[in-house]
Amino acid sequence: MWSLKYEDFKIYCITAASLLAFVVLRIFIRGKSYKKYTRCDGNVVVITGGNSGIGKETAIELAARFQKEEKQLDILINNAGVMAIPLCRTEDGLEMQMGVNHMGHFLLTNLLLPMLKTSQPSRIVNVSSMAHRWGKIKTDDLNSEKSYSNVYCYANSKLANILFTRELARRLKDTKVTANALHPGVINTELSRHTGEISFFFSKYFVKPAMYIFNKTPKQGAQTTIYAALDPDLENVSGQYFSECGFEKVYEQGLDDDMAKWLWNISEKWTKLSSKSE
Ligand SMILES: *[C@@H]1O[C@H](CO)[C@@H](O)[C@H](O)[C@H]1NC(C)=O
Ligand SMILES: *[C@@H]1O[C@H](CO)[C@@H](O)[C@H](O)[C@H]1NC(C)=O
Ligand SMILES: *[C@@H]1O[C@H](CO)[C@@H](O)[C@H](O)[C@H]1NC(C)=O
Repeated sequence: MWSLKYEDFKIYCITAASLLAFVVLRIFIRGKSYKKYTRCDGNVVVITGGNSGIGKETAIELAARFQKEEKQLDILINNAGVMAIPLCRTEDGLEMQMGVNHMGHFLLTNLLLPMLKTSQPSRIVNVSSMAHRWGKIKTDDLNSEKSYSNVYCYANSKLANILFTRELARRLKDTKVTANALHPGVINTELSRHTGEISFFFSKYFVKPAMYIFNKTPKQGAQTTIYAALDPDLENVSGQYFSECGFEKVYEQGLDDDMAKWLWNISEKWTKLSSKSE
């Protein structure tokens, strides 16, 4: 007769429990999907970040190219980003993460704003991150001249996205252009390639498998962006922050209106916006 030893039984149980935990975890991590059937025929959508970050020059070029060829812009999705990279600078000497994640999009958004206004109702969607929780706008060292931490500068740039959404929504409140930010979830894309450079071994045997388990696939990670860009219920919603296809609270430092204004002013200066939009 077939008999099962207690030891074997224990191993089977542990294996089964681990498998179950894995499946549940994956379902949990996958998160909500946008399921409404929404038509958007004829709408023009710009989404940054096909395969690289957006710097100042790219922003200016993109806006000019685009404005020559299109008469309408219904949805602008500021999606491009770099994460936790070693210290490097853009051509204009901006720290790369603040430069790409924030300043480049600041400029692009502002250059495209006239077009978004003539196409209203229109939407601006900023892909931020819950990492803004650890962010702080370093008013005395915004460009990381004195010190640099790749992880904190990433968080700071994502906080900048949130503060901008706030200030922009305030400036647009009498229009039908809405501005919202969101957290897409931790997504297993190239964005995280730089975080794996710490050590090859660590990355290969620990970070990568962990990422597979804990990250959303790009398609899962796009759901909240699609929701923010298309859901008809959000027609009049502006200055908000979303996660998992729904509303989410921002952390305290993302609610600071004075800081939002300060950042707007300095971004205007650094991107030389006023001279470009004339
Ligand atoms: C998105 O973020 C960029 C850069 O921080 C900012 O310039 C822009 O105004 C923001 N747009 C929205 C909709 O928040
Ligand atoms: C948005 O506001 C307009 C004008 O006030 C209203 O007609 C429309 O129903 C609102 N849309 C939603 C989804 O609440
Ligand atoms: C931003 O600039 C405007 C106009 O130059 C100025 O009135 C305002 O005080 C500035 N705000 C902050 C917080 O620096």
